[in-house]
Amino acid sequence: MTSNTELAALFKQHIEIITQRYQTAMENHGFDHLVIPAGSLHSVFLDDMSYPFKSNFHFNSFVPLDEIHDSALILAADGSRTLCYYQPVDFWHVVAKDPEGFWVDSFDIHMIRNKDEVRAHLPNTGNVAFIGEMTAPYHDEDFDAINPGNLIHEINWYRATKTDYEVECIAQANQRAALGHIAAKEMFYKGGSELEIHLAYLLATGHAESQLPYNNIIGLNEHAAILHYFHYDTQAPQQHRSFLIDAGARVNCYASDITRTYAFEQNEFAEMTGDMDAAQQKLCAKVQDGNSYIDLHIQHHHFVADILHKYKICSMQPESMVETGVTGTFFPHGLGHHIGLQVHDPGGHQANIEGDTNPPPAPHGFLRNTRPMQSGQVLTIEPGIYFIGSLLGDLKASEHSSSINWARVAEFMPFGGIRIEDEVVVTDDGHRNLTRPFLD
Ligand code: GLY
Ligand code: MN
Ligand code: MN
Repeated sequence: MTSNTELAALFKQHIEIITQRYQTAMENHGFDHLVIPAGSLHSVFLDDMSYPFKSNFHFNSFVPLDEIHDSALILAADGSRTLCYYQPVDFWHVVAKDPEGFWVDSFDIHMIRNKDEVRAHLPNTGNVAFIGEMTAPYHDEDFDAINPGNLIHEINWYRATKTDYEVECIAQANQRAALGHIAAKEMFYKGGSELEIHLAYLLATGHAESQLPYNNIIGLNEHAAILHYFHYDTQAPQQHRSFLIDAGARVNCYASDITRTYAFEQNEFAEMTGDMDAAQQKLCAKVQDGNSYIDLHIQHHHFVADILHKYKICSMQPESMVETGVTGTFFPHGLGHHIGLQVHDPGGHQANIEGDTNPPPAPHGFLRNTRPMQSGQVLTIEPGIYFIGSLLGDLKASEHSSSINWARVAEFMPFGGIRIEDEVVVTDDGHRNLTRPFLD
């Protein structure tokens, strides 16, 4: 793993590349300055509590801190970076530490003690664009543009190509999440409840719940079939059959997003999980500059068909299962997405820097990435197979019902489903899996 000194050197390259991207976008769209706030805390309606703070991703492309609300970055056309760093005098709350670390000397830092002070640092000449959520104290400012679409499209387009620093941060976020996955697996085999598994994960990663990149999905048995299962049963089930965990971690604001599925006993579901793992590895092996991500997604439908055939769940020819859309009942989501500062990094449907889109082909509407693979992209590869009651009900009512062995479906339903998910970076000569060095 990269040392702190190496990470510092990578950050220096990173910030120059990112600054250059924003400078080019400013030049292309006629802006002299960008004001990029970190964002502010949001209060609960009629209450004195705040929601957990979520930092502006444009701000975090430059500043690797996600807790300095009410700070702001001001970027000038010449590339200079002024950081207004909010550190109030406040005895009620934790206040931001003094700025320290590998990133500080890349900024001209001004400490501000109250939120309004940032206004004294705002540019008063040239065209100024504001990039962020409009909140106090900016409402009364006369910006030339607020979140101009053309500039944001251009930035989103280039965000898909990660710097070496970003790849390293995502790799470290994978290492951190792997600690949680190992602890969670152990708690599953000890017979823990979903909540106990979730807590074991938090403890092992050192994350509080609000610091996770997304809500952990911890599904036991049938719950593994609920794609976004954000509930944690406090009671362990009578019997542990299967466990699907989709959980990530963060390092320097960058996310990981990993899924594993386990069978409690050596049975057919365990065998199917092994088959899915092998399919996932075959898909990862095809990650290469110039290859089509859409083709990879469709390839997985063929793997699903092979599994339905092997386990005698569907009597159609595997080709026909894909052609008729039967595989869509068992694999209703997309193969994956770009990942970086955001779990679902933007720009996956963009066709160019102007923001024209290339939507996924029917019937694959949920596919989040249609861009050809290119060196520097970090993508998730997350194939699965599920036994989802509502979708199976639709299939039962369809013309294909007679091709399904419903008794076999009933045998698998108590296990919910399977998903296996890794992060893979496209390299000049193939790919590198960022998850597997830390987790089988
Ligand atoms: N955990 C969200 C996803 O896999 O996309
Ligand atoms: Mn994902
Ligand atoms: Mn996931």
